[in-house]
Amino acid sequence: MPRRLRQILVHLPSRCGHDSTMEYLTSTDGVSSRQLSGFFAGWPSPPSPERHLALLRGSSHVVLARTDDEIIGFVTAISDGALAAYIPLLEVRREWQGQGVGGELLRRLLGQLEAFYMVDVVCDPALIPFYERFGMAPLAGLARRNRSALA
Ligand SMILES: CC(C)(COP(=O)(O)OP(=O)(O)OC[C@H]1O[C@@H](n2cnc3c(N)ncnc32)[C@H](O)[C@@H]1OP(=O)(O)O)[C@@H](O)C(=O)NCCC(=O)NCCS
Repeated sequence: MPRRLRQILVHLPSRCGHDSTMEYLTSTDGVSSRQLSGFFAGWPSPPSPERHLALLRGSSHVVLARTDDEIIGFVTAISDGALAAYIPLLEVRREWQGQGVGGELLRRLLGQLEAFYMVDVVCDPALIPFYERFGMAPLAGLARRNRSALA
């Protein structure tokens, strides 16, 4: 299905038969951990919804996609407030993927980060084309992951 059509369909009545409109929030005000289920799919030790809320609150920038009072997608950035920002997490709940939500979250986050010199993300090679659509370009990078921090 063409991308634009999928984006339009997101605003039409949902599969549950009632009208559901997607809202994009730039703050965690009023968001509770109860609204944060179904994320970190495939992670060996997924963070709890409480830890999820804590990382959203601790991020310098956040965009959340909400529909029917549930958060169905989020993206975060951590910044030094002067030159640089890093995007550690972007996820759309599996049943909502492929409908333009991830792209919209990223577009809105990059809008918030427009003034920064550096905006970096680390991703799987398969996702490089997704980020390239937003003007990002591959660079070499290094990363360390401490699995025991998730336990
Ligand atoms: C990546 C992700 C956020 C995209 O969200 P989304 O709502 O499905 O994104 P959109 O509908 O705006 O865009 C979908 C595009 O992303 C691309 N894409 C999504 N997941 C992909 C994957 N695993 N591999 C390759 N491309 C992928 C598709 O090519 C698709 O392109 P199309 O529109 O031409 O079909 C979502 O797939 C997700 O949550 N994945 C699991 C977590 C993850 O990998 N996050 C990224 C961390 S760097």
